[in-house]
Amino acid sequence: MSFAPRVFSGIQPSGDLHLGNYLGAIRRFVPLQETHDCVYCVVDMHAITVWQNPEDLARSTLELTAAYLAAGLDPKRAIIFNQSQVVEHAELAWIFNCIARMGWMQRMTQWKEKSGKNAEAASLGLFAYPSLMAADILLYKATHVPVGEDQKQHLELTRDVAQKFNNDFSEWIAKKGYGENFFPITEPMISGPAMRVMSLKDGTKKMSKSDPADTSRILLTDDADTIAKKIRRATTDPEPLPSEPKGLAGRAEAANLVEIYAALAGISVEDTLKAFGGKGFGVFKPALAEVAVAEIAPLAERMRRYLDAPDEIRAILADGAARARVIAQKTMREVRDIVGFVG
Ligand code: TYM
Repeated sequence: MSFAPRVFSGIQPSGDLHLGNYLGAIRRFVPLQETHDCVYCVVDMHAITVWQNPEDLARSTLELTAAYLAAGLDPKRAIIFNQSQVVEHAELAWIFNCIARMGWMQRMTQWKEKSGKNAEAASLGLFAYPSLMAADILLYKATHVPVGEDQKQHLELTRDVAQKFNNDFSEWIAKKGYGENFFPITEPMISGPAMRVMSLKDGTKKMSKSDPADTSRILLTDDADTIAKKIRRATTDPEPLPSEPKGLAGRAEAANLVEIYAALAGISVEDTLKAFGGKGFGVFKPALAEVAVAEIAPLAERMRRYLDAPDEIRAILADGAARARVIAQKTMREVRDIVGFVG
């Protein structure tokens, strides 16, 4: 059975958005609106798998929605909503908790990283997190999911859940006329430069919300001076840039800055190195700051304007949730029927 192409992606409203979220996800959501039916979610139920101050969670939900809009997502074309308004996410996640195996969850590197040495004290939600993520995607039978590199393993698990559901219930799926496969085997969309933006301070660590060093990340709310300063202070080595990508081997910080430049300028790493090969960071960093400021500063300004009208943001989320619910409720009616729930 073939599935109509549909894109789904989500971001947690759990703190400040950074350049990694933008290049790895948000910015890539925008052109997909032209070619696909798109559903973009603010995954607030994922955020509470670790403690969130309620006021901060509510504020971050509005901020992330403002970032979606400021980046160019059109709420008339794409469905934009926050997860908790569509209860079917929780319902399908429960069914998937009964499909997925403990061992699958235990293997997740993000679980290992986030639960750290004290896994016993981590929330049960954090452990089951990938099952909720699979529910997010499969509730809409999404065929494509644009994400950064760090989500790859979670998407593999989503494929495993879909496959196991299709297999476990194959007899009933066929008998009840739902075709051969009920859920699609979703394709990750992870390609191009900057799918894994690294810390500006340590090229071996991912740029992340949780890094204690503020200077390790560029925030979408940073002003032009702050962006330029963070890039100026980024860790680098003393060598000039190479003219070809293979010259970046073993130079994690340089490679990271080159990838960021390529992504922001909309050119390849090869072309970036053709332009800057042989030049030192004294030349490259100001050029990088220029492209970063040109993209991020106006985005921050547009975000602020949306945030001046929070009721409009709430109305957009409510409308998106109503449209999402139509799809989600249909899927759940069918899933309940397949599983054997009466009613
Ligand atoms: P989250 O909220 O941690 O990150 C949101 C998106 O930003 C990408 N990203 C990065 N990309 C490149 N370089 C980085 N340093 C970087 N840091 C973050 C992430 O890959 C992601 O695309 N589990 C997800 C949220 C989620 C989801 C979903 C995503 C829940 N349900 C369904 C897709 C589909 C997460 O925690 O992303």
